[in-house]
Amino acid sequence: MDLAASFPGIDQETFHGQPFEPVIVCFCCQWCSYAAADLAGAMRLSYPPNIRIVLVPCTGRVDVHHLLKTLEAGVDGVLVSGCLPGECHYVSGNLKAAKRVARARQILEELGENPERISMVHNSASMGPQLARCFTEMTEGIRRIGPIFPSIE
Ligand code: FES
Repeated sequence: MDLAASFPGIDQETFHGQPFEPVIVCFCCQWCSYAAADLAGAMRLSYPPNIRIVLVPCTGRVDVHHLLKTLEAGVDGVLVSGCLPGECHYVSGNLKAAKRVARARQILEELGENPERISMVHNSASMGPQLARCFTEMTEGIRRIGPIFPSIE
């Protein structure tokens, strides 16, 4: 069975001898990280095109289920980017998200998968350059780990 064909949007060439380019989903809080990504764009800072941003009202909306299901769908890495600690617009959503990320990483480890596939960072709206750096570091890290499919087959 061609697993790649089951997941539209995933680069099919990855599965046919081409160099591995990771696909990374970043759940970005609308109040901080999404604005930081906008700022990075306005500042003409480059970051890897491997990042697919998913806008969420607050990272507190992201559950363990979302993190694991995203990997199960064939995405190579998941990043959660929320407000700085103490600055969440919903008081503690980012702290809850951090606990969920830790739990999802623990589950990955129990499954024998590299927990580094899931990560969380905190950025304010004015931290465009830092967010661009986070995107680059995450992409390099997942590139080193390798594609998700061979490790779950
Ligand atoms: Fe940004 Fe909660 S509002 S993480």
